[in-house]
Amino acid sequence: MRLSLILLFLQLWGHVEVSFSENVCSRLPNVPHSYVSENTKKVEYHEGDVIHFTCETGYISGPTIRYICTNTGWESIRRGKCTLKPCELPEDVPNGYYEIIHGEELVFGTAIKYFCNSGYTMGDRDGSRTCQLDGWSSTVPVCESKSFSQQPIGVMDPNLQVTGLPQGNEAIKTGDTLHFRCADQYKLEGSEVIECLETGYWNASFPSCSDPVGCEKPPLLSDGDTKTSTKRQYSHGESVEYICQNYYIMEGTPYKTCKNGKWTGQMRCLKPCTVNREDMRKHNIQFRYVSDDKLYSQHNDVIEFRCTRGRPVGSSGMRQKCIEGVMHLPTCQ
Ligand SMILES: *[C@@H]1O[C@H](CO)[C@@H](O)[C@H](O)[C@H]1NC(C)=O
Repeated sequence: MRLSLILLFLQLWGHVEVSFSENVCSRLPNVPHSYVSENTKKVEYHEGDVIHFTCETGYISGPTIRYICTNTGWESIRRGKCTLKPCELPEDVPNGYYEIIHGEELVFGTAIKYFCNSGYTMGDRDGSRTCQLDGWSSTVPVCESKSFSQQPIGVMDPNLQVTGLPQGNEAIKTGDTLHFRCADQYKLEGSEVIECLETGYWNASFPSCSDPVGCEKPPLLSDGDTKTSTKRQYSHGESVEYICQNYYIMEGTPYKTCKNGKWTGQMRCLKPCTVNREDMRKHNIQFRYVSDDKLYSQHNDVIEFRCTRGRPVGSSGMRQKCIEGVMHLPTCQ
């Protein structure tokens, strides 16, 4: 550069008449992101010289950009621009998407990053790719359903019954639920349902089955009692027999059983009917059969009457049934 300046100075000094046409090509055309290709490069250019421009790394042009030196300066033979080399559209990922994390367009130097939809994972992969000269760096990641085949099922209580476990070797996935119950007499302590979270953990710990608990004194039975004297504590599974008072009839089973802290079993003592001789006299009736001659009749017993005077009147027939302590007496007049 310094040498050409000195030469120019000497020329100007020596030949005032010097023609500018000889030097109009000293200033190269401005083609950003490019340089004059080696094979067309010269120290000094003269009319008729043709130069080619090569794009910088990462940039491309269409057909080669060419200029020719004329007596009025550089003229383009093939105009053009060097633009950043684009990369092909990145592949889409099922159950995922990508975003540009560096740059603005899908061109040389731009970085993108893949993300998986909720519930999916690409494992340890970072998911970043860069647009390089030969295309996108690294391969497309895969978004797989998060599964936790390694997730320990936990130390399962032997009395715990679980439903919802996947078939065979299938993994447990996000959103899967497990349902628990305990074998018959055991008591479930904890969550009945747990769910596999995105984090790979269960939303609650595994429940357990506690030993069944015993019962306190058995409940009272009206118009009845336990057959034997009662204790203060009963263990799970123990039964107590009940009986009804005389003339009372039991409806249901005579046992109550302690099940995990609660007495189960239902029974009732149904009232007998009483027939008062004074009432019978007022109604002018008496028992039809000597065998019926009793003051108490049990629930469901049928008693027949007959008139001691006159004829039956009213709606009550001569055959009456004792229903839970109620019997309508017929009347004769
Ligand atoms: C865990 O998830 C299940 C199912 O969605 C839900 O019923 C249960 O209440 C959750 N338990 C806790 C402790 O959040």
